[in-house]
Amino acid sequence: MALKASHGAAYSRVEGIGAAIPSRVVDNHEMTQYIETSDEWIQQRTGIVERRWAAEHETVESLSMDAARRAIERAGLTPADIDAVIVSTVSHMLQTPSLAAIIAAKLGTDGAAAFDISAACAGFSYGLAQADALVRTGAARHVVVIGAETLSKITDLSDRGTAFLFADGAGAAVVGPSDVPSMGPVVWGSDGEQADVINMSRDWHQAVEEGQPSQITMQGQAVFRWATGFIADAARRTLEASGLTPDELDLFVPHQANNRITDSMLRHLKLPETVTVARTIKHFGNNSAASIPIAIDAMLASGEAKSGDTCLIIGFGAGLVYAGQVITIP
Ligand code: UT7
Repeated sequence: MALKASHGAAYSRVEGIGAAIPSRVVDNHEMTQYIETSDEWIQQRTGIVERRWAAEHETVESLSMDAARRAIERAGLTPADIDAVIVSTVSHMLQTPSLAAIIAAKLGTDGAAAFDISAACAGFSYGLAQADALVRTGAARHVVVIGAETLSKITDLSDRGTAFLFADGAGAAVVGPSDVPSMGPVVWGSDGEQADVINMSRDWHQAVEEGQPSQITMQGQAVFRWATGFIADAARRTLEASGLTPDELDLFVPHQANNRITDSMLRHLKLPETVTVARTIKHFGNNSAASIPIAIDAMLASGEAKSGDTCLIIGFGAGLVYAGQVITIP
């Protein structure tokens, strides 16, 4: 008897997108209570006017649940249709069990496969790449990919380099089979030589021994240089790999890290003015793995994006890691 191998759909597509925005609005004036800064400096340097932080009743789990439920509903599916759940987060406070396993159960899937990934701000694109592969190999038919963070809980509010930047939220996408190509090849990679550029300040043992929390540290300028150089070109390579030209794009949704990084990418990509560019950092801050699906969800709600649009996405962050692909908006 010959060993059987799995076969899946010819192509995959994003079938539905959902988001969950925390209720607490934190404006730049509130920031001046925590660090020496100003509304003007934050706006000029990042484009952020306000960000969302989880209120007491909101957690990375509750935000993930809300985003996933919406995405499943918009895909026209029920939780029983979901075969796999992938959560990208760096702010689920238990290393095990995975948040994905908890979400899979609470959603009411029929014991879906579930795992978390640690790919920081590139996590949504990493998750989509995984989901695409699962659907096309037949390992799963419908996959929920969630990017969820409560970075406010692991940010040092007295740190002038990060306190004003990081934020909370969750976004989700359901990926399923397609008859036509609707997700381009992933372009991704890592540079662990720069592992210390964005890092947690202590491991668990040190946190216990020193009686101090483990919080995010970031060398902002080093990340900025990498993002405006190497990552801008990775975005160009992602578009090239998809076989499309800049004028065939409708949307560009880079990770919402900093509007100045987005501006620099636009110059490098030479996108025509007909391409709508995500600027949702203005109201939501930098919420890492959640930023891309939250941006797409918000742009669909405002009418800036519509079903059928061709969209270039790229995530980049701690690792350092990055991933991008072209997707068709559901
Ligand atoms: O999402 C994961 C990936 N992360 C990123 O992509 C973040 C990439 N990095 C950045 O976005 C930027 O580096 C930051 C927004 C974090 C910082 O902006 P910057 O332009 O790199 O600031 P800087 O550290 O070069 O500081 C410039 C000036 C300095 O003053 P002088 O020396 O020019 O007089 C700082 O003292 O701004 C001052 N400064 C501040 N002023 C007000 C630094 N932090 C602050 C602050 N408020 N919070």
